[in-house]
Amino acid sequence: MKVTGNTVLITGGATGIGLALARALLERGNEVIICGRRADRLSAARSASPGLRIRVADVSDRASRADLVAWVRDAFPRTNVLVNNAGIQHLIDFRGGPSELAKVDEEIATNLAAPIHLTSMMLPLLASQPAAAIVNVSSGLGFAPLAGMPVYCATKAALHSLTMSLRHQLRETHVKVFEIIPPTVASELGAGHRPSEVNSSAMPAETAAAGIVEALEGDVLEVALGDAEKLRSKRDALFAVMNQS
Ligand SMILES: NC(=O)c1ccc[n+]([C@@H]2O[C@H](COP(=O)([O-])OP(=O)(O)OC[C@H]3O[C@@H](n4cnc5c(N)ncnc54)[C@H](OP(=O)(O)O)[C@@H]3O)[C@@H](O)[C@H]2O)c1
Repeated sequence: MKVTGNTVLITGGATGIGLALARALLERGNEVIICGRRADRLSAARSASPGLRIRVADVSDRASRADLVAWVRDAFPRTNVLVNNAGIQHLIDFRGGPSELAKVDEEIATNLAAPIHLTSMMLPLLASQPAAAIVNVSSGLGFAPLAGMPVYCATKAALHSLTMSLRHQLRETHVKVFEIIPPTVASELGAGHRPSEVNSSAMPAETAAAGIVEALEGDVLEVALGDAEKLRSKRDALFAVMNQS
């Protein structure tokens, strides 16, 4: 698809991969709308990149999602790209008992339910455009889980599955469905538990954003960035071994 002249809604676009992608797309002459829960981070992003459109929204909340979609429809009726990027990551220890479960609900609502509902709510608008795309940001951890964050990894595995089905359902429309599978990227994800040295050796968010733009431009519908490709290709090889008959 062309990577200029689009109107793009990026959830969770005030920091990390979403912000780097927002800037990369802004530079290429796209209209870019970002949303997130923290007004101060959205304002800071717009101060640094004045072309950005910002909206406070909590995509895990039904009413907030509805408000966001209604606003986008009215203010940006040419919106043709939805990037489901917002995500959170928690350490969950099942040995800790049910008190862990509050975190689980928030994680599933943000990482999985939000992309499902936003996709459904945005699809009529996207489908009314001459060319459109849905871009889901999953994770290499959806292919090989880190057991300390079991629900995060499960939501990303589910998002991968969901993206495959959505792509199939929309195959005869002009809405392309992309999945971006990042490796460890330097960002605020898991800020409370991620050791600082992880971010210093991780892929920069700008490199991840460049990989996303390249995938969009080349119509590579499923792309694993950096080391995430190793996780995905091992899964593909094992699948072939297990399904020989
Ligand atoms: N960093 C990595 O190593 C890595 C690897 C693989 C995949 N990913 C995925 O990449 C995506 C982006 O993450 P990131 O690494 O860039 O981390 P990040 O810097 O923490 O960005 C996540 C963004 O999502 C927003 N967000 C969280 N919950 C939200 C909600 N309920 N409603 C609206 N916005 C919400 C956050 O803003 P507010 O808190 O202000 O809402 C934040 O701006 C995520 O889906 C993540 O799972 C990241």
